[in-house]
Amino acid sequence: MPMSTGFARRLDPVLPEVARHFGTPFHIYDLQGLRETCEHFNETFAATPYREYFAVKGQPNPTMLRYLTQYGFGFDCSSPAEIVAAAKAGARGEDICFTSNNTSYEELEIALRLGAIITVDDETVVDKLLAVDAAPRSLCLRVHPGTAADVGESYLGDALSAKFGIRIDRLPEVAAKATGLPAESFGLHMMLGSGFLHPDPYFVSLDLLLEQVTRLRDGLGLEITFLNLGGGIGIPYRPAERPFDLPALAKGVVERLRAWEQRSGRPRPRILFESGRYVLTPHGVLVTRVLNRMSKWREYVGVDAGMSAVVRPAMYADAYHHITVHDADGRSEETVDVVGSLCENNDKFGIARTLPKTTEGDLLLIHDTGAHALSMGFTYNGRLRPQELLLHPDGTVERIRRAETIDDYFATLDFAPDRLSPAPAALM
Ligand SMILES: Cc1ncc(COP(=O)(O)O)c(C=O)c1O
Repeated sequence: MPMSTGFARRLDPVLPEVARHFGTPFHIYDLQGLRETCEHFNETFAATPYREYFAVKGQPNPTMLRYLTQYGFGFDCSSPAEIVAAAKAGARGEDICFTSNNTSYEELEIALRLGAIITVDDETVVDKLLAVDAAPRSLCLRVHPGTAADVGESYLGDALSAKFGIRIDRLPEVAAKATGLPAESFGLHMMLGSGFLHPDPYFVSLDLLLEQVTRLRDGLGLEITFLNLGGGIGIPYRPAERPFDLPALAKGVVERLRAWEQRSGRPRPRILFESGRYVLTPHGVLVTRVLNRMSKWREYVGVDAGMSAVVRPAMYADAYHHITVHDADGRSEETVDVVGSLCENNDKFGIARTLPKTTEGDLLLIHDTGAHALSMGFTYNGRLRPQELLLHPDGTVERIRRAETIDDYFATLDFAPDRLSPAPAALM
């Protein structure tokens, strides 16, 4: 979504000085916008027991996570490093839900030690927990609906290719096994995809999950007290797209829960979300400076950042990030590719974009980098990840992560020597 008018109003006047002081490139996040989205989320779901567990994979900077705790948000973590990020932000116990996949004993142990909600992505996780006599406080079974839900293409995979979740037809057996664990509460999880701009997929999930709640209670006497509808709420990256209607989602969710309560005579389960993109993505931009103007088969604008800062356009065929030029009113337009310096031809923030004419030194803004931007970056080609700045509502700007340096790039070469001389295999 092109940055909000509020964010633009706050950033534009200070941008040249911020760029001079901190240097480019940088991601800059708008604390005021973050606060407004968190309040909107909480107000919209106030009619039903609910909690948002921000997906740390989208933005693992503990400074940002700490602000989210002010709104009662917990954290969805899918790796030990993400658990540490959440813990650094002050999260403890059920403030964390651990939604891993292909899970090891070691990472389970870390999540258990902190008292996190354990989301079980596969039957083998239940086996592991039983094997170590684990006592998770809350256990959540992640269900894959297979052909029971058709919501189109998704990175989460269809019935035949999905590596995530427990097959819905196997749920009763896995749940029966899970009741052998001394958990105080049990929940179900379903995430059908990512980038949804319409609430319907969540209604599909909720209907399916509520059926399973009844099935598990009738079949096993198991009480499910919470339902995690996952992340995946989309944002309109393209100016022509319409924003996700969060109130329509809340209304449909509450209607379904009320109807179920009346049918079943049971208290409604609490609703959990683990959204990342919706909460933070629109509240960040990457600011990068034009290094070169190049004329080849096309016109190129070469900038001082690349896919190490925002990998989505290179990674996903249809990914779009809006691009604007700072202080470009009244300039004529041209069609250009905006490129970084990696030795990969897909290191392009935009292809055939119509932008105001730029010259060396101009500042470009790559929009929607508040989440799933720096966190997805990598250091291929020795192109390092940029700094992160935070724009406070009073106009001050704080550096919350420095840029990577060449010393960081070589840091893993500096370790205590360790050399093994394997014993020859015994003669057969
Ligand atoms: C299990 C799970 N939860 C939450 C999320 C967050 O999704 P989003 O940031 O699109 O809301 C993801 C995204 O990959 C996910 O896989």
